[in-house]
Amino acid sequence: MNRAETALINSPPRRWLQRLYEVPVLLSFGGRLPPGSRALEIGCGSGYGSQLMLQRFGAAQVDAIDLDPAMIARAQARLAPYRDRVHLATGSATDLRAALNADDGSYDAVFDFGIIHHIPDWRGAVAEAARVLSPGGRFYFEEVTSHALNRPTYRRLFDHPTEDRFTAEDFLDQIG
Ligand SMILES: C[S@@+](CC[C@H](N)C(=O)[O-])C[C@H]1O[C@@H](n2cnc3c(N)ncnc32)[C@H](O)[C@@H]1O
Repeated sequence: MNRAETALINSPPRRWLQRLYEVPVLLSFGGRLPPGSRALEIGCGSGYGSQLMLQRFGAAQVDAIDLDPAMIARAQARLAPYRDRVHLATGSATDLRAALNADDGSYDAVFDFGIIHHIPDWRGAVAEAARVLSPGGRFYFEEVTSHALNRPTYRRLFDHPTEDRFTAEDFLDQIG
């Protein structure tokens, strides 16, 4: 991420949007998790999403990864009060074996709070999320489509991959 997006992602307005809009919408679609659920957050950034997974979605255990060690350091500080329920690692959403030694079907839920559009091999990230989900597991996501990424403000302010981005239909087809 460039400096503008990093500043935005680590700001209070990002947390307000996540808490007051994204979480209620995702809960309305996917509901709370069953007791004892094990959940994964890909691209956890500052760790606020993982905190909400514990507090609002009822996850019992959360594993969370991010490609950027500085973000993992932020997440570690934020999630210190939950350290017995959270495991953080630096690594890529496209290779969860390398990042977390994650076996097939090892999570009841995977959360993507706006990161897959950052990944050149976005299909690989979707395939990894599907691989590690248990049968009947839930994929909670909010994403940024090619339509939004092509807006002049987005292009001017932020730095995203430009090739092979997805429409909403492409993304839904891929998660199948
Ligand atoms: C837009 S931020 C979103 C952060 C957080 N999920 C949120 O909603 O505030 C995208 C995050 O994805 C991370 N990221 C980018 N590519 C990644 C990859 N291949 N695997 C894991 N994380 C990645 C970035 O380091 C960044 O923290």
